[in-house]
Amino acid sequence: MKPLDIPPPLRTAPAGAAQAGPADAPWYAEQGDECALFAHAAAQRLPLLIKGPTGCGKTRLVEHMAHRLGRPLVTVSCHDDLGAADLVGRHLIVGGSTVWCDGPMTRAVREGAILYLDEVVEARKDTTVVLHPLADDRRVLPVERTGELIPAAPGFMLVVSYNPGYQNLLKSLKPSTRQRFVALTLDWPQPEVEARIVAAEGGVGPEAAARLVQLAQALRRLGGQDLEEVASTRLLVMAARLHAAGLPLPRACRAAVLQALSDDAQTVAALEQVAAAVLGTA
Ligand SMILES: Nc1ncnc2c1ncn2[C@@H]1O[C@H](COP(=O)(O)OP(=O)(O)OP(=O)(O)O)[C@@H](O)[C@H]1O
Ligand SMILES: [Mg+2]
Repeated sequence: MKPLDIPPPLRTAPAGAAQAGPADAPWYAEQGDECALFAHAAAQRLPLLIKGPTGCGKTRLVEHMAHRLGRPLVTVSCHDDLGAADLVGRHLIVGGSTVWCDGPMTRAVREGAILYLDEVVEARKDTTVVLHPLADDRRVLPVERTGELIPAAPGFMLVVSYNPGYQNLLKSLKPSTRQRFVALTLDWPQPEVEARIVAAEGGVGPEAAARLVQLAQALRRLGGQDLEEVASTRLLVMAARLHAAGLPLPRACRAAVLQALSDDAQTVAALEQVAAAVLGTA
């Protein structure tokens, strides 16, 4: 088999990448002006809401910008059992005495970090009580259990994200929460940008990357009507990595992309036909 051209660390910028940050910053290929918008929001001390489908680059953007801005990053993946105390902190019994232990939000507020609340709509509604005073111009964190009112350190920035496609009426941001944030929508990158991402992150050459992106576009056209989920950039990167490791492209796509989109055998068979038309068979 011919040797594959795998760039050594998968998360550094390919040569000539225009948006590279400091040398060790996780590489992020920009879709539009989102890096500038992020930087302006940070400078103006405005909280940022990032919307976009799964696997489109939200987390990578936040990691990249935290490095570029030189701020620590505290990430919390929200879930339906996550309440204000999980974010703020709680009293713990240590060696027979009670000690206060800061939660991730309190740490970020004190340190001047970027606090990234991923899938924020999943969190319990009582988190609103701590989000609102932090997200508006008060920039304070009320810690009910200790009676403290902690002013956010200058570098503190609140960033939240969610996937609008997964929302329902029970799980959506209240208008009063949403209107405290500057909003940014990410979508699938333009084909040339996505091919660069797949090549750099997946360790494949430009030709394989371009074919993976073509497949994603064909599958995305089926989204909504015939298919609930569509192929994300993340899935393309996974397929590329399998291919870089030695699997033929159609096999890599079946395992990493098609099987991830549906559990229904008939649907997967139909997707395989779409893939065969784009990639050929193996
Ligand atoms: N613009 C981009 N630049 C560099 N890599 C990217 C970009 N977009 C996507 N990727 C690649 O896709 C993967 C998934 O992206 P990421 O984890 O940022 O998605 P996400 O939008 O946070 O998804 P989720 O909503 O599921 O958390 C990354 O690990 C990276 O390999
Ligand atoms: Mg993410």
